[in-house]
Amino acid sequence: MKDFLAPCMVVGARGMLGRDLCASLREIGTHIVEMDIPEMDISSLSSVMDVMGKVKPKLVINVAALTDVDGCESQQEQAFKVNATGPENLAVAVNELGSFLVHISTDYVFDGSKNMPYREDDPPNPLGIYGKSKLEGELSIKRVLSTNYCIIRTQWLYGANGKNFVDTIIRAGGENKTLKIVNDQFGSPTYTVDLSAAIIKLCLMRANGVFHVTNSGYTTWSGFASKIFKLVGLDDVEIQDIDTRRLGRPAPRPLYSVLDNSRFVRLTGIKLPQWEDAVGKYLFGRTV
Ligand SMILES: NC(=O)c1ccc[n+]([C@@H]2O[C@H](COP(=O)([O-])OP(=O)(O)OC[C@H]3O[C@@H](n4cnc5c(N)ncnc54)[C@H](OP(=O)(O)O)[C@@H]3O)[C@@H](O)[C@H]2O)c1
Repeated sequence: MKDFLAPCMVVGARGMLGRDLCASLREIGTHIVEMDIPEMDISSLSSVMDVMGKVKPKLVINVAALTDVDGCESQQEQAFKVNATGPENLAVAVNELGSFLVHISTDYVFDGSKNMPYREDDPPNPLGIYGKSKLEGELSIKRVLSTNYCIIRTQWLYGANGKNFVDTIIRAGGENKTLKIVNDQFGSPTYTVDLSAAIIKLCLMRANGVFHVTNSGYTTWSGFASKIFKLVGLDDVEIQDIDTRRLGRPAPRPLYSVLDNSRFVRLTGIKLPQWEDAVGKYLFGRTV
């Protein structure tokens, strides 16, 4: 990576996206400093100032968050501390160092009522605590760093280093002949390795502002499960489609939160692979 971006600090480096991002950065020879809790707690300004003051990163990529969407409903204070105050603290430190902040956000900042892919400037209206806290994080970054930031909204992540839908559904399909799966939420399943490449591209371009980045195409959780079962030969599992309401989860979810990637595509000339190809690559190490 170009010198002006090194050292690069990855915050949340031991999470699902963090591990793949660090591996991709290492592959291109970037000098990275990996941070996670407990070495640096983003919800504490003194912890952030202390560590960042020592490392003096030229680029900070924040993939740390409280990502348990249902858990956030019962841990509101903690959710806002990590997802809102955390990015604000990072922005304050980045501002003081004169460096650059890349921050990962979510489709859950939208309410899902648009029925067309969301663009970066569509008005947010989060439904639950996770989305509300992530939106506040975005707004803090914009307030503290009028430039020198890049916010990347993504969705439906899966990767080798975290609990994810692909592994969970394969396990469930191995144990049950019939599964009830939600078919009224629409989104783009996104592979953390593909997203990591996109994040690095935006870093290299020092892209400023908000970008929507996901794998291409979209589906429902039921459609995603059906594709996974086909790929792994679990064709005999019967999927019974159900509504989100029937699941009775604590957190409300946007029903349609497909993200329009055209701003990213226009700037970088890159379109991330189709989601069906990406899940094949995740499962078999190649497109099938
Ligand atoms: N997963 C998705 O489907 C999805 C969708 C859209 C957007 N995103 C966003 O993408 C990013 C990465 O998600 P992910 O799924 O890779 O998350 P993840 O696996 O939960 O990783 C998050 C990491 O952040 C760490 N962390 C939590 N609180 C912290 C704190 N106070 N200070 C420092 N580190 C802290 C976690 O440590 P512990 O594990 O010890 O808590 C974990 O290592 C997040 O910003 C998330 O909001 C994710």
